[in-house]
Parts: sequence; structure tokens; C-alpha cells
Amino acid sequence: GDAPAVAAVPQAGQDGLVLLRRAGRVDPGSLDDYRATGGYLALRRAFELGPAGVIREVLDSGLVGRGGAAFPTGRKWDATARQPDHPHYLVCNADESEPGTFKDRVLMENDPYALVEAMTVAAYATGCPKGYLYLRGEYPRAAARLRHAIATARARGLLGTDILGKGFSFDIELRLGAGAYLCGEETAIFNSIEGYRGEPRSKPPFPVEKGLFGKPTVVNNVETLVNVLPILERGAPVYAEAEPKLFCVSGAVERPGVYELTFGATLRELLELAGTTGTPRAVLLGGAAGAFVTDLDIPLTFEGTRNAGATLGSGVVLVLDDTVDLKRLILRIAAFFRDESCGQCVPCRVGTVRQEEALHRLSRRVSHEDLLLLREVGRTMRDASICGLGQTAWNAVESAIDRLGVYE
Ligand code: NAI
Ligand code: SF4
Repeated sequence: GDAPAVAAVPQAGQDGLVLLRRAGRVDPGSLDDYRATGGYLALRRAFELGPAGVIREVLDSGLVGRGGAAFPTGRKWDATARQPDHPHYLVCNADESEPGTFKDRVLMENDPYALVEAMTVAAYATGCPKGYLYLRGEYPRAAARLRHAIATARARGLLGTDILGKGFSFDIELRLGAGAYLCGEETAIFNSIEGYRGEPRSKPPFPVEKGLFGKPTVVNNVETLVNVLPILERGAPVYAEAEPKLFCVSGAVERPGVYELTFGATLRELLELAGTTGTPRAVLLGGAAGAFVTDLDIPLTFEGTRNAGATLGSGVVLVLDDTVDLKRLILRIAAFFRDESCGQCVPCRVGTVRQEEALHRLSRRVSHEDLLLLREVGRTMRDASICGLGQTAWNAVESAIDRLGVYE
């Protein structure tokens, strides 16, 4: 097989990593390497604890979703496990598409068995006989490695019927996306898997009640699932003492790539690791759906970034120096949302077009009317759109106006 993608992992080989512990160190094609480095200990522990015990550990760990929205994972699992309607389904959201996000790719390419094992644990805890791994179509290396890992695990009795002789049956089907940003929205994934257009459904009902094929469904991001392994291996209290988080650092830094830190480190500490030259003009946190910040001393936690009027989102840290044309960047973000809007609801379908038009006018001539219009359109998109795309399409623009003074 091809060599591990170590270039994407600046910390590869360092001691003390949890989520990236195997990245660049083991052959991602080898189940034996995986097992020799602690693989499948978490599943064995899960079988000892039983489904309710696993959910208890995940609740106690405080783990929240790493796709961007930070919903408590244990609550999601518990709500699904309790549903009387069967079958339950597991969906791993691997449609990593937020501009600037590439952490799940690094996990899947470098440690594919970890995701297979973590999905098996999640399915056991929540009573799912089948899991779908919905992978971004533009990740061919991850697809090949996951396909190989799934087939090998199946051949070795780690997927399929009666896993490890414990009477639990579960299998994984890999599905590839076809390039739409919106197909990472959890209910759009259901439509896509079911063969319909990848458009979001209205929530509630939430997937835990009525998801894929109308059945109770757990949807978890790749990084979220992979965190469940150290939770079970170490126990929730030890895990929670130093909770790992991946960050995708790009832009004006010397060593762009994926970094693993424990929650609580500041943005400045992360940038020191990645190597910055001087103070950046701004940092875009959370990607296109996120916001610009200038304070480097904010703690990189969900709460800390929220208090700073930004979002940790999926861990995007895009560093901008003085050479960046901010107006062009904002126009690019607006064009992205206009392109990717599915057009199903009016606030987003019309709002993303009006937003881009006003920004084009503003980049030629600043006018009070256009700034007012932008605010009104932005607020309407945020308050009245069906899904996260429309709800977040104004975030970065608003922060560029209010915090960076781009149109002053
Ligand atoms: P959301 O807040 O609507 O939901 C988060 C999760 O919690 C979902 O799985 C939802 O089903 C569940 N949930 C919420 N309330 C619930 C309840 N009462 N009972 C049971 N389950 C409940 O957020 P959404 O729209 O799923 O995600 C938005 C985030 O996604 C944004 O923060 C954005 O940054 C991020 N995002 C990430 C991308 C990536 O590539 N990783 C791409 C685009 C957006
Ligand atoms: Fe489609 Fe935008 Fe409405 Fe989401 S908010 S359903 S992307 S039109």
C-alpha cells in the first residue's frame, strides 16, 4: 500500500498524543499493527460494561460532538438506545466539508481501524445492527483504507455476525458523497442514503427519534466516535482530565496541518506550535460558518470561543496575515454559501444571493444602505432558515464588518 500521510500530521511521532497516537507510526493497512497498539481493547471493555455501562461512561466523560455543534454524545446515545422502534441505525458523518477542515481525513487515512472499532462500540451501546459510513467523495485515499479495514475486520470476526463470540452482530456500509457541502447536514445524509436529493429535513423530530428510513438513528462525526476509544480504555474520569481536541491549522503559518491539544490551550499556544511570523491580521475560527477573531488569548474551548463571539466549530483555525485581501475572502465565502444553498427555503435561497450582491457593491463603494441591508438579510437567514447552512451564512460576514471593520 501507499505510505502513511504523515505530511498532514505535524505532530506525527510525538509521545502523549491520544487521537493521533497511531498517525504516522503504524501501517494503516495492518489489523495486526492496530491490535498490537491497543486496538480492540475498547470493544472488549464495552462488552464487559454492557450497552448501558458504555453509555454511562460516555455521559460521565462529558464528550460533546466534534462535528461543530457540540451536542452531548452520551445524551444522543441514551435517547436512541431508549427508542422502542427498531431497527436503530448508526450513521458516521464523514462528509467533512467545512472549508478549512481536514482532521477527520487525517484520522481516517492514518488510523482507519480506530473508526471501525469506534463505530462498533457505538452500535453496541445503542442497539444498531447496521451502520453507514457516509464519506466525502473527494477522499479517495480514506475510502480505500476504510474499505480495506472494513473487509479485514469482517474477515477476522470483528464485524458481521457474533462479533468476538459475544452474540452481537453489526456491519458497516461505506457510502460516498458526490461533492455537495449540504450532504454533510445530518438529515440530508439520510435523504442521500435513501436515494433522494440531498436536502435537509426539518428538525424536530430529531434523528434520535426518526432518522434514517424513519427509524431512530445516531449520527456522530468521525472525531467524536474516535474519542470513545480512550474513554473506554482509560475510564471517563482519566479521559476527562485531559480531553483531546483536533485543530486544523492553515493559512499564514509555517507548519499547517492537524494538531492535537487538550481543551484549554489558547489560540496563541496553538499558533506557536504551528509557527507564526508576527501577529496575524485575523484568525477565522470555525470555517466559512464561523467568525473572525483577533484576540489570540482566547481559550480554545466551545465556551471560550462562544464568549468571544466565535465558535470552535469543527476546529478550523485559518490564519490571515496582512497580505490577504479580506474583501475578496468574504466575497468568496458569500459565493460559497450561494453555490451550496439547496434552495429549499426562501431565507437562504434568496438571502445568500442578496448577501453576495450587496458585498459586491460594497467592495466597489461603501454605502450605509448596503450595510443595513446586509444586516437585515443576515438576521433573517440566521433566524428563519431550515438548516445550519442558512443559519450560519452571515456569521463570517458579520464578524468581518463588526470586528475587522472591513468596510469602514
Ligand atoms: P444542531 O445544533 O442542530 O445539532 C447538533 C446535533 O445534536 C445533531 O446531531 C442533532 O440531531 C442533535 N440534537 C440537537 N438537539 C437535540 C435534541 N433535543 N434531542 C436529540 N438530539 C438533538 O447542529 P447541526 O446543524 O447538526 O450542526 C451545525 C454545526 O455543524 C455547525 O456548528 C457547523 O460548524 C458544523 N458544520 C460542520 C461541518 C464539517 O465539515 N465538520 C460542515 C458544516 C457545518
Ligand atoms: Fe437548503 Fe439553505 Fe434552507 Fe438549508 S437553509 S434547507 S441549505 S435553502
